[in-house]
Amino acid sequence: MKYTKTVTLKDSRQCLIRSAESGDARDVMDIFLLTHDQTDFLASYGDEGFFDVDFERRFLSAKEASDKEVYLCSLIDGQIVGTASIDAIGRSKVGHRCELGVAIDMDFWGIGIGRALVTACIDCAKSAGYSQVELEVVSDNTGAISLYESLGFIEFGRNPRGFRSRVCGWQELVSMRLELD
Ligand SMILES: CC(C)(COP(=O)(O)OP(=O)(O)OC[C@H]1O[C@@H](n2cnc3c(N)ncnc32)[C@H](O)[C@@H]1OP(=O)(O)O)[C@@H](O)C(=O)NCCC(=O)NCCS
Repeated sequence: MKYTKTVTLKDSRQCLIRSAESGDARDVMDIFLLTHDQTDFLASYGDEGFFDVDFERRFLSAKEASDKEVYLCSLIDGQIVGTASIDAIGRSKVGHRCELGVAIDMDFWGIGIGRALVTACIDCAKSAGYSQVELEVVSDNTGAISLYESLGFIEFGRNPRGFRSRVCGWQELVSMRLELD
């Protein structure tokens, strides 16, 4: 799915939110590795390196061509500083459900990029015809939870052993959902 929008951030800078393209593969890999090293709130670590540039190119091309999925990046002054995605949960009886993910370079937290990316994902999910957006978030991740709640997401369950962190052991995951229609 293709998407593009420019937003003004809290510090008055312009941020371009657009769907990533195959030519962004290396930059997207770099930001993925950076964000996955910066926090313990994501599902994997940067050093686990599951993919290479060719895989990433194919992955981003497929997302761009899809009418049900999107991979967004946020750029300031031409630099990718965050990404977010909408992925289908499945087909048939779960075809109305999609999953949202978001991660931003820590140096750019707190200026409105998270809200802009999650809002863009919700817009994409509506365009794709989904009736529910879902996500899982570590229960200690109070900033993210407050962002999701402010956009209408509600909690529908908890998994006390959702992640096993290298740093702190079990991490509880909160399941959240947003109805779109
Ligand atoms: C969670 C994350 C996406 C938020 O992005 P961000 O750009 O810092 O968020 P924003 O600046 O757009 O803030 C949006 C809202 O989030 C909330 N928020 C963000 N950081 C917060 C914090 N440290 N404490 C409390 N609330 C916070 C606020 O409610 C804020 O509301 P406001 O717009 O009325 O001020 C970002 O911190 C991040 O990438 N974290 C690491 C990866 C991660 O945790 N991803 C989510 C996995 S489920």
